[in-house]
Amino acid sequence: MTGDETASAYDRWAAVYETDRNRTRDLDGAVLRGAGLPLAGAVVVEIGCGTGRNTEFLAAHAARVLALDFSEGMLAKAQARCAGRPVRFVAQDIRTRWPAEDASIDVAVTDLVLEHIEDLAPIFAEAARVLRPGGVFHVSELHPAMQRDGKQANFTDPATGAEVRVPAFRHTIPEFVNTAIAAGLVLRRLDEWFIDEVDRTAGRPRLLTLLLERHR
Ligand SMILES: C[S@@+](CC[C@H](N)C(=O)[O-])C[C@H]1O[C@@H](n2cnc3c(N)ncnc32)[C@H](O)[C@@H]1O
Repeated sequence: MTGDETASAYDRWAAVYETDRNRTRDLDGAVLRGAGLPLAGAVVVEIGCGTGRNTEFLAAHAARVLALDFSEGMLAKAQARCAGRPVRFVAQDIRTRWPAEDASIDVAVTDLVLEHIEDLAPIFAEAARVLRPGGVFHVSELHPAMQRDGKQANFTDPATGAEVRVPAFRHTIPEFVNTAIAAGLVLRRLDEWFIDEVDRTAGRPRLLTLLLERHR
């Protein structure tokens, strides 16, 4: 399972990513918008920005956004959507050093990306490096319980009609939390999110979110 496979899958998914029915994606968007992140005047980095559906929201509130993704197809959509907004898009594998100075970022954000990352340590290490003391990292991810039920990012390729399951890795909640702590981040909140009452009653959370803070 290589990053190339993942980037190429997202290049193909880009055409329909936002029009496909996807209740987890929609829940994630609502959760981010309601998270109360300190965006006013902030310098933000978004890793795995995709088609920019969250980048646009972040850029509407922040001073500027650095948006990273390694799928050229997704980035092209995001650039078109965010034209005129204060966003710098960079085509980059987020497992490598992010193009930001130490302690230069107020808010880091990632949504529905980390299931594609086998080793979480370099991601949390980069977040800890680029965040200023007191800066925050909002992590929203497919809940591990969904992965245990066999769910992972998938789509129907519009070109071939074939179902594509994007390479994904399982992570536990302790792994998210302890890897972040080992990188020097402090856990401020951890939440589980449900689509509706049916899922809540069945104990089937869709999303896991963490709010992490860089040591002051
Ligand atoms: C499910 S999409 C989420 C996009 C966006 N965050 C959203 O919530 O709509 C996952 C994104 O992560 C990107 N991605 C996955 N692994 C990556 C990596 N190693 N480096 C850069 N981008 C990556 C993919 O290209 C894709 O755009």
